[in-house]
Amino acid sequence: MKKLLIVGGSKGIGKSILENALNEFDCINMSRTTLQIVHDNLTHYTIDVLNDDLPELDDVDALVFCPGSITLKPITMLKEKDFIADFNINVLGAVKVIKKYLSQLKKADDGNIVLFSTVAVNQGMPFHSSIAVAKAGVEALSKSLAAELAPNVRVNCVAPSITDTSLASGILRSDKQREALSQRHPLKKILTPEEVAQMALFLLSQKASGITGQIIGVDAGLGSLKI
Ligand SMILES: NC(=O)c1ccc[n+]([C@@H]2O[C@H](COP(=O)([O-])OP(=O)(O)OC[C@H]3O[C@@H](n4cnc5c(N)ncnc54)[C@H](OP(=O)(O)O)[C@@H]3O)[C@@H](O)[C@H]2O)c1
Repeated sequence: MKKLLIVGGSKGIGKSILENALNEFDCINMSRTTLQIVHDNLTHYTIDVLNDDLPELDDVDALVFCPGSITLKPITMLKEKDFIADFNINVLGAVKVIKKYLSQLKKADDGNIVLFSTVAVNQGMPFHSSIAVAKAGVEALSKSLAAELAPNVRVNCVAPSITDTSLASGILRSDKQREALSQRHPLKKILTPEEVAQMALFLLSQKASGITGQIIGVDAGLGSLKI
């Protein structure tokens, strides 16, 4: 069985990826909180990827990095430390994990990395300066590494719109707000974690063996349609 390392499988999109991957992969989860799931194919490490040392692992065939942030503030309120914090968790967190397990990923048959951006990189949105800058870094990292690591490792990036997870709970704080945000999307919906996870699972699978260096929107149409 291939080994899948999920950083951030305790909540949200990562949790949905983990739950769906358990029958196909030997899964390793790293997150700051423990998991409610127990499974023969699951090993958990309680780790803060930014501050803790990462464990030695013999094999890693695929890696999904889920930690991220949603910092929405007008530029007048954004401090340098907000930009640094967003860059740290979204870009440097991913870089740290990728560098740690790169030799294992390169040895894998169809090595695979999936990262997460946001629809707000390509579509300018008010109050997104800091997170859009950080996620633009994630997209650039995905493309650069896809080129550098081909043909051994595929690297792709999923760019969701607002998704119903704890990370977005401040934005989805009321039924009125949910309805307003849902109506902004061509598909008139707020994405479920499962809908976004399915794209990551596809990219991890052999069905996506011809795909690398792509930024794939799972955004209910928001990033590309105006209707
Ligand atoms: N939700 C949205 O609306 C949305 C929209 C666009 C893009 N995205 C992106 O999609 C990705 C997943 O989002 P999500 O909504 O599923 O996020 P989430 O619900 O906050 O889940 C993030 C996961 O990462 C883990 N994590 C966070 N910081 C960590 C750290 N320092 N060390 C180890 N683990 C850490 C969390 O676990 P612990 O708390 O247990 O550590 C959790 O399992 C993120 O990159 C996000 O920016 C989300």
